[in-house]
Amino acid sequence: MKLTIKSRFSNYDIFIKNSLLDSVEDYVDINQKYVIISDDNIPNYIIEKFTKKIDVMHIIRFPSGEKSKCLDEYSRIINFMIKNYIKKDIIILAIGGGVTGDLAGFVAATLYRGVPYIQVPTSLLSQIDSSVGGKVAINSEDAKNSIGCFYPPKMVLIDPETLKTLPQREFNNGMAEMIKYSLIASKTLFEFLRNDNVYNNLETLIYESLKIKKHFVEADEFDNGIRQILNFGHTFGHAYEVFYEYKKYLHGEAIALGMLKTINPDLKRELVSLLKKYNLPIEDSAKSKDLLEFIKRDKKAKTKSFNLIKVDEIGSASIKELDLETYEKELLR
Ligand SMILES: NC(=O)c1ccc[n+]([C@@H]2O[C@H](COP(=O)([O-])OP(=O)(O)OC[C@H]3O[C@@H](n4cnc5c(N)ncnc54)[C@H](O)[C@@H]3O)[C@@H](O)[C@H]2O)c1
Repeated sequence: MKLTIKSRFSNYDIFIKNSLLDSVEDYVDINQKYVIISDDNIPNYIIEKFTKKIDVMHIIRFPSGEKSKCLDEYSRIINFMIKNYIKKDIIILAIGGGVTGDLAGFVAATLYRGVPYIQVPTSLLSQIDSSVGGKVAINSEDAKNSIGCFYPPKMVLIDPETLKTLPQREFNNGMAEMIKYSLIASKTLFEFLRNDNVYNNLETLIYESLKIKKHFVEADEFDNGIRQILNFGHTFGHAYEVFYEYKKYLHGEAIALGMLKTINPDLKRELVSLLKKYNLPIEDSAKSKDLLEFIKRDKKAKTKSFNLIKVDEIGSASIKELDLETYEKELLR
């Protein structure tokens, strides 16, 4: 399966196929030189799919986890590459989850003012979300994704077979984002997730999820308008993450709780039963009022008005631009 994303930088293809990585030579240029960037938890069998077939000059590993999306790790990787005479004609392979994609993508965007990179996402969340759309970033000490830019990959290679080694909790984490796609854009996907077996249909489900992401990214590449619909559940979700200092919930788990906070009350029961199916959290003891403090701190930095993403019926979402008072009322409802 193939999708092409139109970008103002340059268009790029996404290939999705079971066992795709067994024939990487059919997708990447075997006459090129490559550097692999990957976290130290990504199994070697995935890395070897490339090292056996193409010319990999260096494999740069970094400690797995969100804490590596930082200036120190970024600086260590960039300096290593420059000291080892890596030149502009290199292609970076970002092999791993969203942390790897964001960090390696930001390295690619800034090394010599930009070298090409290929996303090889290996977690469900990165296969359906972070590897597509061109957002790359690292975190500052206080704010997530605060140092970054738009820099689309040259290509995205998705092999759902890699998910066989992904821990179950991480898989479910990705399912939260897939549920989000269904709520904002596809009743058919919602019904499928409710009634069918996802494990037997991953190629199709990844494709359908990315088709939705493609729609929003192409309509609003730089995230000034309609792309914000992709943030459904993220306002409260992000507040949960910060409230618990990123220790209690994975990103998708926090988004699951965030979606429950803002969904139309008539749809809540249906969402709860779907979240339960994928072992995602459905309640938390944090008070909305306390979470709101984090939301206001986060949002105030950006804008005077506040955008609330609403799902009024399954498969359809809208953005409401509200003043602070109405926004607070809506969130505390
Ligand atoms: N750029 C974007 O548009 C965008 C969108 C959404 C999320 N993100 C970012 O993505 C990050 C989260 O991504 P994530 O959930 O993939 O986290 P992650 O990259 O930390 O991966 C989760 C864990 O799974 C392991 N793993 C990945 N693939 C594996 C495999 N096939 N087998 C065994 N283990 C595997 C990783 O080593 C890691 O320990 C966050 O930093 C978030 O900000 C970015």
